[in-house]
Amino acid sequence: MAVKLNTASFLGVEGNIVSVEVDIERGLPCFNIVGLADTSVKESKERVKASIINSGFEFPVKKIIVNLAPADMRKVGSLFDLPIALGILMATNQINFADCRNFLIMGELSLSGELNKVRGVLPITIEGMKNNIKNFIVPIGNAEECSAINKINCYAFNNLKEVVYFIKYRDLVPFNHKTINVESKNALDFSDILGQESCKRALEVAAAGNHNILMIGPPGSGKTMMAKRIPTILPNLSYEDALEVTKIYSVTGSLNKNEGLITRPPFRNPHHTSTTASLIGGGKNLMPGEISLAHNGVLFLDEILEFKKNVLETLRQPLEEKKITINRAYGRVTFPCNFMTVLATNPCPCGNFASKKECNCTDFQRKRYISKLSGPILDRIDLFTFVNSLDFKDIENCSRGEPSKNIKSRVEKARRIQKQRFKNEGIHYNSEMSSKLIRKYCNLDERCLLLIKSIYIKYNLTTRAYSRILKVARTIADLNNSKKIQESHLAEALHYRKFLDEKFL
Ligand SMILES: Nc1ncnc2c1ncn2[C@@H]1O[C@H](COP(=O)(O)OP(=O)(O)OP(=O)(O)O)[C@@H](O)[C@H]1O
Ligand SMILES: [Mg+2]
Ligand SMILES: [Zn+2]
Repeated sequence: MAVKLNTASFLGVEGNIVSVEVDIERGLPCFNIVGLADTSVKESKERVKASIINSGFEFPVKKIIVNLAPADMRKVGSLFDLPIALGILMATNQINFADCRNFLIMGELSLSGELNKVRGVLPITIEGMKNNIKNFIVPIGNAEECSAINKINCYAFNNLKEVVYFIKYRDLVPFNHKTINVESKNALDFSDILGQESCKRALEVAAAGNHNILMIGPPGSGKTMMAKRIPTILPNLSYEDALEVTKIYSVTGSLNKNEGLITRPPFRNPHHTSTTASLIGGGKNLMPGEISLAHNGVLFLDEILEFKKNVLETLRQPLEEKKITINRAYGRVTFPCNFMTVLATNPCPCGNFASKKECNCTDFQRKRYISKLSGPILDRIDLFTFVNSLDFKDIENCSRGEPSKNIKSRVEKARRIQKQRFKNEGIHYNSEMSSKLIRKYCNLDERCLLLIKSIYIKYNLTTRAYSRILKVARTIADLNNSKKIQESHLAEALHYRKFLDEKFL
């Protein structure tokens, strides 16, 4: 009689239930795995055999056929080791055939029978739950991740022997998810930043409306330092958002052992030498890239002009669609990538233009330098802020800045207003408003219209720039808890745009 157990696989960030059937017959000894199993699954045979023997059980000298169904689904990874091993032990009556229909079993075995952590446990657990599976057997390294899902029982083990014992005696209570406080004492904080009030304000506005922002400034002025502190003023992720983020980290295997759900917005800072594949995702195993690892958080592209032009070009579509679809011969996956983009650059080749030090670049050199930003990137930036280096007297006079938690509470309030406003519009933030929504929610009075008209004509703005100014003005009004966009709000929004047109374009 064939033994059947539940396990699962994943593609992209979606789990798929797989059943493992083990059939053992008399005949020439062999061990075959069928059902579109890739090479990583085939290697499983060696691990399963060694771990059965090294855990003190008997490996049958018979004809062993393992079928992974459905056969037409591509199956990768090493998480089938454990269900295959258990299937063999049951089919040979070394353990009684227990009723495991309500269990989903996954785990990689080492040659000595230890259970190693596997990738994709969170999407698999979610899929199992959808299929009314209540009990999950996982390696101890995946326990936090699996038990982060409510209303299921997660049983976590160190090795094959422990699992066998559990199946025989069912004497274990489910693993209890620990909530750990991740805020460390040396965490970054906005209060570390001296001065730079206008830039900090711009970052607050950007965070409140989830706007993309570009910081321009000379070397050493603190651009990188400020960017790294942005996550500290962003609210915690909602449960749904946390699940989306954690699924992505689960399939890349980068959740650490003590980490259940990721509840803080991620911050990703890919280097300018990054390849398209590492930014966008893909590769042999269809893994998410940096833009998806930044989902619901911040993507910081430091020294943006050092990135290769073709690499920046590939960001155009995901920035627009907030998701990325990757096609391969064996499948097609879509990863979400809705993030706040933060960019930093020097203003010119020497780095000193518009700052307190002297710039020795020609007009032509400068224009050519900044023109690399044009097109796909410049068009998608809502706020521009100039970061000047601090003088010694600034440093001397500066008191410590406002702590992140105060700024964060203002950001939270502004985001709540947006959530309420857009509850039936299918978006979350002001930055996502379509032109129709801009018309609906960004009405300007007479005085505001006059103001924006004069700037529009003076700097020869595009309609795109015009929409962006209105969205930012909406966010500033929200930060001030004002239903109406007032002249001061609009003036501030124009300020985040004006210096760019005045000095650089
Ligand atoms: N406003 C500030 N308050 C406190 N420290 C600062 C400030 N600005 C700069 N610093 C200090 O200077 C260091 C360099 O700043 P940072 O690397 O952020 O500059 P940058 O603008 O990114 O320069 P580059 O263009 O060379 O990348 C920081 O690590 C920090 O120690
Ligand atoms: Mg820097
Ligand atoms: Zn210069």
